Amino acid sequence: KENRKKQNSYYDINRRAGRCFYDNLVQRKNEALDYLIKRGLTIKTIRSFGLGYALNGWNHLMNYLIKEGFKKEDIEKSGLIVENKQKDGHYDRFRNRIMFPIFDIRGNVIGFGGRVLDDSLPKYLNSPETSYFNKREVLYGLHIARKHAENKQGILVEGYMDVIILHQYGFKNTIATLGTSLTKDHAMLLKRYFNEVVICFDGDKAGTKATLRSIEILQNVDIDIKVIILPENIDPDDFINKNGKTAFEEKIQHALSFIDYKIYLSEQKYGSGSLEDQVKFGKAIAAIIKEIKSPIEQEAYIKKIEEKFHISKDAILREIYGRKTNVN
Ligand code: UTP
Ligand code: MN
Ligand code: MN
Ligand code: MN
Ligand code: MN
Repeated sequence: KENRKKQNSYYDINRRAGRCFYDNLVQRKNEALDYLIKRGLTIKTIRSFGLGYALNGWNHLMNYLIKEGFKKEDIEKSGLIVENKQKDGHYDRFRNRIMFPIFDIRGNVIGFGGRVLDDSLPKYLNSPETSYFNKREVLYGLHIARKHAENKQGILVEGYMDVIILHQYGFKNTIATLGTSLTKDHAMLLKRYFNEVVICFDGDKAGTKATLRSIEILQNVDIDIKVIILPENIDPDDFINKNGKTAFEEKIQHALSFIDYKIYLSEQKYGSGSLEDQVKFGKAIAAIIKEIKSPIEQEAYIKKIEEKFHISKDAILREIYGRKTNVN
């Protein structure tokens, strides 16, 4: 019973805080609402994701929550206020930030992400982890996306803003990790709701690296994997604001299999045309093909490679299995 009470107070405090941030955003004159609207969000979207604004003061939220009847020690446990060691007081963790409530699968608010309104750092600050909030097992947007998994396809992106803007454009099957790399727990959660995950990370080095890592993790739960490649330094949020809904739909339609994605990356890496690179490319391709377990799928990819890159089936197979093995 004591645990249940604690749990309720944790959820209540976070929900109340979310309400306070939301009211700050929509009821007061400040630059936060302008900022979100400039980024293309509608009021309806802001409401459905419960976005808010943490005012630029030290105790606004704390005073609000205390007035609501919550105890300071409980508020502190939620991570929303931080103890000031020197002065024996507390201050709000989130100040002058756009607030993104983070929901669990049942729609409880379990934490927040807070974004600065300018280029200062850190860009995002998150609630500290607690026994109710574990980033390794939370997917942002899943409480909505799980109800929009009709075709059993989920779109996995990197950021809060990517999720929100894609939902606004109708891609309500979009989810993101909370800025951490994908874990086994995330993968199992995805497997529960989707048969296929389309990875659509930022078009930069970090995004590529995270894509390759996520592929490995997702392979372990036996879910279909597709990959969307975005232009250099563009993320899904930039892409859809710039190019619109149809363009993103096309991206999904032409999403690559993860094998084709890896081939594409090797092409990028060894595409110089030099003999040395050609050899490296061939070897990289062989390594990718070797990973394919199904012989039929393997053969299909080999055929494609023969046609596209003029590397013979024979060479690929011998590269993989050695000279002596007689594979036809
Ligand atoms: P990005 O830097 O790609 O930001 O980080 P973004 O989502 O595109 O944000 P906008 O469009 O500039 O507003 C992707 C995700 O990584 C986490 C956040 O979850 C963010 O959404 N992150 C990023 C952090 O946790 N802390 C940071 O300082 C930066
Ligand atoms: Mn990024
Ligand atoms: Mn981004
Ligand atoms: Mn950005
Ligand atoms: Mn962005």
